[in-house]
Amino acid sequence: MNNEILELKQRFEDELAKIDDLQELENIRVNYLGKKGLVTDLLKRMSTLSAEERKTFGQKVNELKGIVGDRIVSRTAELRDMAIKQEIERMKEFDLSVPADLGRGSYHPVTLIQRQCENVFRSMGFTIEDYSEIVTDYECFEAVNIPKDHPARDMQDTFYLNNGQLLKSHTSAAQNAILRKYGKSLENGVPIKAIFPGRCFRNEATDACHENTFFQMEGIMVDKDISISNLIYFMKAMLSEVFQKDIKVRLRPGFFPFVEPGFELDISCLICGGEGCPSCKHSGWLELCPCGMIHPEVLRMGGIDPEKYTGFAFGLGLTRLVMMKYGIKDIRDLNSGSLKAMSQFTDDE
Ligand code: PHE
Repeated sequence: MNNEILELKQRFEDELAKIDDLQELENIRVNYLGKKGLVTDLLKRMSTLSAEERKTFGQKVNELKGIVGDRIVSRTAELRDMAIKQEIERMKEFDLSVPADLGRGSYHPVTLIQRQCENVFRSMGFTIEDYSEIVTDYECFEAVNIPKDHPARDMQDTFYLNNGQLLKSHTSAAQNAILRKYGKSLENGVPIKAIFPGRCFRNEATDACHENTFFQMEGIMVDKDISISNLIYFMKAMLSEVFQKDIKVRLRPGFFPFVEPGFELDISCLICGGEGCPSCKHSGWLELCPCGMIHPEVLRMGGIDPEKYTGFAFGLGLTRLVMMKYGIKDIRDLNSGSLKAMSQFTDDE
């Protein structure tokens, strides 16, 4: 009997010495101390012994049980320590100070096109304005003629913040501030000419054509006798520069509460040149930019007398323009942060 206990103890020690992995240790624990384990078996056998034998045998088996338990606990700690030390050694081979071999960085395609557009408009006398991404309900909606509960709010599924502010759903949110900023110069015969590119946010289900985060570039011009023909001129000039060829445009009626009349500006299809192809759904035209004459109410809220002055506004889909220029099929690539996808456009600047 005693021998059997000693042998089992030896066997346990041998097995324990061979392993170097926590899972194997767990297998040993189950094999010895589990319900059907070897030590448990010995304990079960006690009922067959005489009272005298049972006492000493019981003591010895319980001793063994205690030893096995303790050894497993200490071996667990040893193996954990070993794993940590190995990890530290591995980390030492990884030299954080070695420069990554990624080549030179590059501009994001949206940045490239934004700068191109800015350069064209700057050369035509427009100022470039920056505006925050978090705005008030007044700036984003009320000041552009979309009062509370107006159904037009449903056109833009907006992200509201807990403090009542919101992530701007269109760059038109800056119109009021810019009209106010430059309105006074009108009295001195200086027109308001401004573009304001910016990141916009809408609670969209994303797919190849929709993103919750995208870029627009708004432009406004206000002066005496501004008409839609001024708008067409500036848009054509800008697009011809970006695409490096003459671009035909057309206007269709479109509804936006902050312009009257309102339009959708289409450009001749870049792929087929207007003949009709799958990219333009065989119409020869691509929808690019909503626009229109600034609503008198919006001018008034911006501190400008609509009896004296008129103006146009456009909301160019910058992200859309980028996709057209580079033939990007999936809008999600643009926010992916994937160097592989984006570095194709680096040779532009
Ligand atoms: N803000 C509008 C939108 O994002 C676009 C727009 C801008 C329309 C300016 C007309 C004039 O839906």
